[in-house]
This record gives sequence, C-alpha cells and structure tokens, in this order.
Amino acid sequence: MSKIVVVVGSLRAESYNRQFAEALTRLPAASGHEFVFADIGALPLYDQDDDGDQAQPVKDLKALVRSSDGVIFVTPEYNRSIPGVLKNAIDNASRPYGDSAWAGKPAGVIGVSVGAIGTALSQQHLRNVLAYLDMPTLGAPEAFIQWKDGLITPDGTVGEQSAGFVGGWLEAFLALVDRHKD
Ligand SMILES: Cc1cc2nc3c(=O)[nH]c(=O)nc-3n(C[C@H](O)[C@H](O)[C@H](O)COP(=O)(O)O)c2cc1C
Repeated sequence: MSKIVVVVGSLRAESYNRQFAEALTRLPAASGHEFVFADIGALPLYDQDDDGDQAQPVKDLKALVRSSDGVIFVTPEYNRSIPGVLKNAIDNASRPYGDSAWAGKPAGVIGVSVGAIGTALSQQHLRNVLAYLDMPTLGAPEAFIQWKDGLITPDGTVGEQSAGFVGGWLEAFLALVDRHKD
C-alpha cells in the first residue's frame, strides 16, 4: 500500500485534469492505495522573504508531501508550459534552500489537454523542474491525454477505450514508487 499525493495543475472548477485525476484514483490499479489531493489553490504566491516564516498552507503541503511515498502531477499545458499555479506550488514546497519537501519522492507526470499534443510540452518543462528537485520520475510509458467525449464516464471513471492504457501507466508509476521505498 502506498500513499500518493496528487497535484492537479488547474484550479478550474470543472477542470478536465481534475476529473481525470479523480478517475485515475478509481482505476483497479489504484485499489488498496491512498490518494490525497493537494490543495494548491490555498497557497500564497511564493515570496523568498517568507522563507523563515512559511504560511500554514505551505507547511501543510510540505508535511503532506513528506508523509507520502510519491507524487502524481496531473497538469494542463498553458502557453506551451506548466501553469503558474503548479510552478508556484512546486516553488513553495521546495524552500527554504535545503528544506525541499520534494527531494527523493518518486514522481509521475500525466496531463489532459484539449489540444492534439496532449500536454507534451508542459510535461517536458515539468520534467526539467523535477530533475532539479531530485525527484526520480517515471520515464515510460509517457501519457499525453487529449480530452474527448468518453474519456471520463458519467460515473467518474476512465472510459473503456483509455482505461487499459491509463491503468498500465498507473501500475508502472506504483512500481517505481515501490522501488524507491526504504
Ligand atoms: C492560459 C491558457 C493557456 C493554454 N495554453 C495551451 C497550450 O499551450 N496547449 C494546449 O494544448 N492547450 C492550452 N490551453 C487549453 C487547455 O488545454 C484547456 O483550457 C484545458 O481545459 C485546461 O485544463 P483544465 O480543463 O484541467 O483546466 C490553454 C488554456 C489556457 C487557459
């Protein structure tokens, strides 16, 4: 059993990425594992002047990440990169220097876009950040998901056309997490 933090890079109420992330946690491969969604909308804009006195939502995010076995980032692509809210969350929990909550935590990167390249460029930028943060990140399979009717069923599960592929991605990520357990 693993405890996984899910970070969704969209604050939109009807976010496709949020819906997809929730469906991901309902896949058979998720069974027996704990998934906790991080509340990144509550975080302040990162300000280095606050490093010595971090706001409670920052402390809460860092504690949550530290208590986990791994992190899944489910993110849209904004202007060919990651959304600012996601970078803000990453920056907040990475500081003060030497006290990053992310270090060593296995990461999975996945995302949903209305566009044909399915967040590929956003994910590539995110991988660059995660490498610097020393997060061992699932390399393959890659998962670039395009939003289409039927991706999520009315009851909030991954549709049958995608469930096999996405379930395989989740299994590969959870195996990476297992390999990094002490
Ligand atoms: C500011 C902004 C920039 C966007 N840039 C891209 C982009 O570079 N590539 C892309 O495929 N979609 C882009 N989109 C469209 C998003 O894929 C779409 O809005 C998607 O629904 C966002 O994810 P969400 O539903 O989880 O909020 C952009 C949307 C916004 C609001």
